[in-house]
Amino acid sequence: MVHGRMIILGIESSCDETSASVVTGNKEILSNIVLSQLQEHRAYGGVVPEIAARSHLLHIESIVRKALEDAQISLEMIDGVAAAGGPGLIGGVIVGVMMAKGIAMGRNIPFIPINHLEAHALTARLTDDVPFPYLLLLISGGHCQFLIVEDIENYTYLGGTIDDAIGECIDKTARLLGFNYPGGPIIEQLAMQGDPNAFNLPKPLIRQEGCSFSFSGLKTAARKLILENNEQSLTFKEDFCASFQKTIGEILADKGKNALLMALEKKPEINTLVVAGGVAANQYLRNCLTECAQMRGISLVAPPQALCTDNGAMIAWAGVEHLEKGLIGSLSFAPRPRWPLEDLKIK
Ligand code: KG4
Ligand code: ZN
Repeated sequence: MVHGRMIILGIESSCDETSASVVTGNKEILSNIVLSQLQEHRAYGGVVPEIAARSHLLHIESIVRKALEDAQISLEMIDGVAAAGGPGLIGGVIVGVMMAKGIAMGRNIPFIPINHLEAHALTARLTDDVPFPYLLLLISGGHCQFLIVEDIENYTYLGGTIDDAIGECIDKTARLLGFNYPGGPIIEQLAMQGDPNAFNLPKPLIRQEGCSFSFSGLKTAARKLILENNEQSLTFKEDFCASFQKTIGEILADKGKNALLMALEKKPEINTLVVAGGVAANQYLRNCLTECAQMRGISLVAPPQALCTDNGAMIAWAGVEHLEKGLIGSLSFAPRPRWPLEDLKIK
């Protein structure tokens, strides 16, 4: 504790970013160092778990040192260490958790295991002071779901994908167009030059009740269309990306309207829709969701792009929120490859 500010070190290593950050109880991000492993996985077209784990192990110490240095904070000034405890690639999660436990044990300060999805969910409170409860749309490489965020460790699931995650659909489609992982940013860029009405793609489950998603039909239709156009000119790619992105925007907005109704029925005081996760970095999709929220008199909050994709600051902030409530973990916490948001209380 320095000048009454709680100071937390956060570590993220559950996928392909090694990251460490120092965040205070006053919502100051003193540092946020993110080392992407993209180049190491590029040749394989996706994240290779074994390569990821080895790379996290190789870099974690220097990334943590750099985060402390950049923040001008010594280990003695830290009040707690938070690490992503899952869900994610288990080899990487083990690296971050062991590092955090080691520091916590050495300094005799709390170790706070954080659910990676909860960290995405709480980022809007760090950046935009969003009060509980709010509706959350979590859209990332592995997830696509609506949840009511009632409080720390208290989430009500409203609906989500019944097959593929949204990011998976985007990344696999981008790969067929010849783009490297992650495909989302390239699709967004090409879509800016293309005609969004050039191709008609399916929107499974649209205009039906509830807020479940299905992306496998869209993925298959996109695949068929791409394979039929085997010469794939730049114009084709631009038009395809614009049409594909527009289709996803319409699906999200349609389901968003239903989810807002469902959420407001349960919690009439909700006045914010928060969008989080890597896909939330997409400005076009943010605009679609803003329109949908405004139709229900609700405002949309989306964290800045750098805090949408995986980073240590979101873990550190979730650590602050937990420590403020006395919610700390035990040093016997076991890293979890799977860890649904509904199971948060069992640590
Ligand atoms: O949350 P995240 O960094 O990792 C996890 O899955 O936890 O999300 C990664 C996903 C990838 O599917 C990537 O293609 C997508 O986020 N993404 C985007 C954009 N930036 C990243 N999708 C659409 N547009 C973007 N600008
Ligand atoms: Zn993530």
